[in-house]
Amino acid sequence: MAARAAIDERLFEAAEAVRARAYAPYSNFQVGAAILADDGNIYAGCNIENAAYPIGNCAEPSAIAAMRAGGGRRIERVYVTGPGTLPVTPCGGCRQRIREFAAPETPIVCHGVDGEPLYTTLGELLPHSFGPNHLGR
Ligand code: THU
Repeated sequence: MAARAAIDERLFEAAEAVRARAYAPYSNFQVGAAILADDGNIYAGCNIENAAYPIGNCAEPSAIAAMRAGGGRRIERVYVTGPGTLPVTPCGGCRQRIREFAAPETPIVCHGVDGEPLYTTLGELLPHSFGPNHLGR
């Protein structure tokens, strides 16, 4: 495989560092997400589960919250890491949450850390998406 972009190495490291802090005692499936934002900073988040299962948080919205809290406004690139060999792709709800702050062409790298990363885009993961533009924004 060709040498990976330096930004993906930085995003991978950030996603893995925060994944170590995931709280996933029920699924034992620890996920980390790292966002490169329009301010040039990297913002990361992990999944936080709950004994009341449906109210657990995925890693991606945690990273989005960190981005907005830290002053980033738009998502330029996303890197998601998790266990196993299958690429850890954002769930349907997370695709829509990413959509709020990203464009269809925004790259998303999905990585099961024992396998190869999948390089895709938000538009491929969420085609014909409903977004802020439908509401005139
Ligand atoms: N999970 C994420 O945090 N992000 C994803 O992209 C896929 C799934 C979490 C939710 C839950 O805590 C665990 O992984 C198992 O579904």
